[in-house]
Amino acid sequence: VRRLGVLTGGGDAPGLNAVIRAVVKSCLFSHRVTPVGIYDGFSGLVEGKAKELELDDIWGILPRGGTILGTTNRHNPFRYPFRRPDGVEEIVDASQAVVRNFEKLGLDALVVIGGDGSLAIAERMHRELGLPVVGVPKTIDNDISATEVTFGFATAMEAAADALDRLHTTAEAHHRVMLLEVMGRDAGWIALHAGLAGGADVILIPEIPFRFEPVIAKFRARERRGRPFSLVVVAEGAAPQGGSQVFQAEDKVTGWKRLGGISYLVAQEIAERSGYEVRVTVLGHIQRGGSPVPVDRILATRFGVEATRLAVEGQFGTMVALQCGEIVSVPLSEAVGHLKRVPVNSQLVKAARAIGIVFGDEDP
Ligand code: F6P
Repeated sequence: VRRLGVLTGGGDAPGLNAVIRAVVKSCLFSHRVTPVGIYDGFSGLVEGKAKELELDDIWGILPRGGTILGTTNRHNPFRYPFRRPDGVEEIVDASQAVVRNFEKLGLDALVVIGGDGSLAIAERMHRELGLPVVGVPKTIDNDISATEVTFGFATAMEAAADALDRLHTTAEAHHRVMLLEVMGRDAGWIALHAGLAGGADVILIPEIPFRFEPVIAKFRARERRGRPFSLVVVAEGAAPQGGSQVFQAEDKVTGWKRLGGISYLVAQEIAERSGYEVRVTVLGHIQRGGSPVPVDRILATRFGVEATRLAVEGQFGTMVALQCGEIVSVPLSEAVGHLKRVPVNSQLVKAARAIGIVFGDEDP
């Protein structure tokens, strides 16, 4: 391998730049390989937007959030949005453009840093187009199954726990119920960890459909003990048991769920049923922006170094992963398509329950 491409795909996560930096540095310092940055995810491959990377390009990026290469989650080469001269957009298969640009750029291998969606595209590029690809898992949601943890998760958790600390004092001052909505469409890892770290009273996650009764009972029990305020963490994918009519109907009208904001519906329902004064904070992309915390920088660096080594050794169709504290490689085909959700009987959930945290599925 003499020229190694690297691209970032899907939503960003703090630590992407640390991976890029590690790929570039290990290419230059350990393997005498030329790193080539592909811009804006897979669209850079389809449209040939790329540049050889030098040390100058990566200086100072370790603590920076985002990605110096840019990213997008709209551009799948197999279903590519192509704008015709008359302005109409149509979906085309642009995978042969990827193959052509691979050759044009002289790439011998490609590191794809992405979440489940981007890694599935990488796997297909390897399987159907025969391209030499190595994957690096990325998501703040921590829901990629083959790896124990992804970079960006710790940074997101820290932002969410900090938000809870701040909400705590104002909740106490006003005797309010405060809802904090955090990211996690399919999995409640951020909500569960941040809730534990930030002293939440209730944690609502997609894996445990909830009822309002136990949640409100928790507020009342706290009030009886002289604590007439409560903190609730809501993962954006959380839903009530049976998927109440109200939620589904209002979703269609407002689009709230799609845009983030399920917690407004939860809050309204809590307020109406309990009479408590309720306020909502949607943390949103604050969880994805900003500087990665040190553990994310270290994991991202280790992933970048190992992905480069795998590429240089010709071990394609693989993905790096963290297992038992070691960076290992797993087949991309086994890594994609299986979301890692919070096991409802895990030690972590049990520990939360043991200290009185309510998930909304408790018996009356
Ligand atoms: O998968 C990462 C994630 O941050 C999810 O938690 C969230 O639902 C989604 O991305 C938001 O995506 P976008 O930035 O496209 O709104």
